[in-house]
Amino acid sequence: MRKAVYPGSFDPVTNGHLDIIERSAKVFDELVVGVLVNPDKKGLFSIEERVELIERVVKHIPNVKVESFSGLLINFMKEKKAKVIIKGLRAVADFEYEFQMSLMNKKLDSEVETVFMMTSAKNSYLSSSSVKQVAMFGGCIKDLVPDEIISDITKKVNNL
Ligand code: PNS
Repeated sequence: MRKAVYPGSFDPVTNGHLDIIERSAKVFDELVVGVLVNPDKKGLFSIEERVELIERVVKHIPNVKVESFSGLLINFMKEKKAKVIIKGLRAVADFEYEFQMSLMNKKLDSEVETVFMMTSAKNSYLSSSSVKQVAMFGGCIKDLVPDEIISDITKKVNNL
């Protein structure tokens, strides 16, 4: 069984993330979306909310599960018995950080491979933080995030 983990903060999930999830789910038998619990970083959405938003937008993909994890990704990989980390790459700017993380993860567990998937061109400028900024200042986030979660984001930023 080919199993992979797609880790991230997903605060919130964007169309860029969903595209990587949909494409990875075609390549692997099982894909676990791992939402990082980061106690140092207060997000817009709680971890439970992030997991729920992702579950809602992936419910049409049967081989995708969504879970949260804390601590090292490599330990989560062991727990899930997965050997492949999926990362999405947008611009060159992502490369250095991702390269460093993949080497660190390799050092921590040489059995685990990081597989990079290039973003689709239409999503190459998208990030959770830019979506949050646009929403906070009243801009339109249609086409940036799945339609099913637009109102969750606008409600959340309006209640800040
Ligand atoms: O969506 P993000 O914030 O770019 O995702 C970053 C993430 C969650 C993939 C990364 O921060 C991570 O793997 N954190 C877990 C801590 C860890 O394993 N660190 C060692 C590798 S440098």
